[in-house]
Amino acid sequence: MSEGTQVDLCGTDELAIGDRRRFMLECGPICLVRLRDRFAAVADTCSHEDFPLSEGEVELDDCLIECWKHGSMFSLVTGEPESFPATQPVAVYPVSVENDRVCVRIP
Ligand code: FES
Repeated sequence: MSEGTQVDLCGTDELAIGDRRRFMLECGPICLVRLRDRFAAVADTCSHEDFPLSEGEVELDDCLIECWKHGSMFSLVTGEPESFPATQPVAVYPVSVENDRVCVRIP
């Protein structure tokens, strides 16, 4: 059995491809992103300063999200920053889709 808690976030049709949305969960804010063929979830706080990644643009081809404040690009796969000024990763959370509902597993 997997560790953590499964949280139901929304329906699959509530986000269009490229959309992102902030959810406030017990573990903190999470940014859910709809990619072309799946969903991704990362901590919704930039590792550079306290700023929501969900306000930034998504690059679908490279699975990246841009921090709108200073421009760091974060991988939606690994959470690693791909550009400065951020140097630390953000947390990535496993996402699953069950019965047209998008669920995230949090610690
Ligand atoms: S707050 Fe995100 S790059 Fe500075």
